[in-house]
Amino acid sequence: MPESFEYDVCVIGGAGHVGLPLSIALADKGRKVIIQDINQSAFALIESGKMPFLDKGAEPMLARVINKTLFATTDPAVAGKSRYVIVVIGTPVDGHLNPELRTLNRLCDELGPNLRGEQVVILRSTLYPGTTERIRNILKKFNPKVEVCFCPERIAQGKAVEELHTLPQIVSGFTPDAIEQVSDLFRLLTKDVLALPPLEAELTKLFTNSYRYIQFAIANQFYMIAGDYGADFHRVYEAMTHNYPRLADFPRPGFASGPCLFKDTMQLSAFTNNKFFLGHGAMLINEGLPNFLVEQTKKRMNLRGKWAGILGMAFKADSDDKRDSLSYKLRKVLEMEAASVLCSDAYIREEGFVAEERLIADSDVIFIGAPHARYKDLDFKGKPVVDVWDFLPFPTLLTSAPAQGSII
Ligand SMILES: NC(=O)c1ccc[n+]([C@@H]2O[C@H](COP(=O)([O-])OP(=O)(O)OC[C@H]3O[C@@H](n4cnc5c(N)ncnc54)[C@H](O)[C@@H]3O)[C@@H](O)[C@H]2O)c1
Repeated sequence: MPESFEYDVCVIGGAGHVGLPLSIALADKGRKVIIQDINQSAFALIESGKMPFLDKGAEPMLARVINKTLFATTDPAVAGKSRYVIVVIGTPVDGHLNPELRTLNRLCDELGPNLRGEQVVILRSTLYPGTTERIRNILKKFNPKVEVCFCPERIAQGKAVEELHTLPQIVSGFTPDAIEQVSDLFRLLTKDVLALPPLEAELTKLFTNSYRYIQFAIANQFYMIAGDYGADFHRVYEAMTHNYPRLADFPRPGFASGPCLFKDTMQLSAFTNNKFFLGHGAMLINEGLPNFLVEQTKKRMNLRGKWAGILGMAFKADSDDKRDSLSYKLRKVLEMEAASVLCSDAYIREEGFVAEERLIADSDVIFIGAPHARYKDLDFKGKPVVDVWDFLPFPTLLTSAPAQGSII
């Protein structure tokens, strides 16, 4: 007779950007889901039906399921009361750009003694290749009956609840039974479920994010090459992509940052003993873009004694997530050159940030850090604007070559 559990699913890290939308989506399918997280401060919001961060369409769903099929706790023991245990805590790289393994190791030490019976542990965090097998070996020592699977998350941040139902789900496990069990769970979200061996599933996720990161890097490198020679890259971009299907998905230049693409590319680099040359090249290009923008600006205006403003500190448009945002690197570079740097963001409240109007009024030059849609309607009062994204509907400072010998 199958074992009975108090909860269908426990999501460890369930208050986070990936864990919460997944918890909501499964609870909305009628499964009894318990979020287990150390971030207790997020619980007050979640339990009142409010999202702690932006995710399109998530809040009404959360309000529908909270305290009905969705619950939250800080108690790690709930993992032992759940049929499926999904782990989706952060998996960053360390100061050497190698995977930081301690967090997951500590989690295994905590989770292991709580496991009982025929539970399925699903690793949903992005993993350094081989980690699923390593964790399986650790957890099997606590409970030989446990199955450990890896089912990567591939949503775009901010659109998770939407994409959980539209993207295919990749599942992996070490036995046919484990694969069947995780497939059953993810078929609640989509019929399109694809099974792979764990190592291939781990590589699928890292290859996907590294490919995106490299795509952004080539756009950024072309932008810099064009800029170095006084050419307008955005005009070149229009010519390249106009009615030319083979370049239909060619990205525009812009800051490629955030909590995933950089660190996942570095995980793959570490996995290949630093032989992932394209990945490292992409990192140098993407991380160098703020410096390039400031250097190009200096060719057109003297920043000494001037005030610079950065509009948009999130890592991407219409997001409230500032993790690893290159706008903060831009601020650091500008602080070395300008008299003062003002920052503003439509979605992030942070000490020292100023309102958009004040930023525009007080800045001698304005950089678009994140192209939040509402910035399109702002009155920039004729101030010089640096818009790497080419998102504003008027010509900006770097779209034409610097006039010979004339610095503003
Ligand atoms: N953010 C994305 O768009 C995205 C997309 C795909 C995959 N991923 C991957 O998903 C994973 C999580 O990313 P995220 O953006 O959701 O991170 P996050 O920081 O938003 O969420 C992680 C959550 O884990 C919690 N946590 C940390 N340690 C814990 C512990 N020991 N016990 C219980 N809870 C703990 C944190 O409090 C937090 O709520 C990462 O591996 C990331 O690479 C993220």
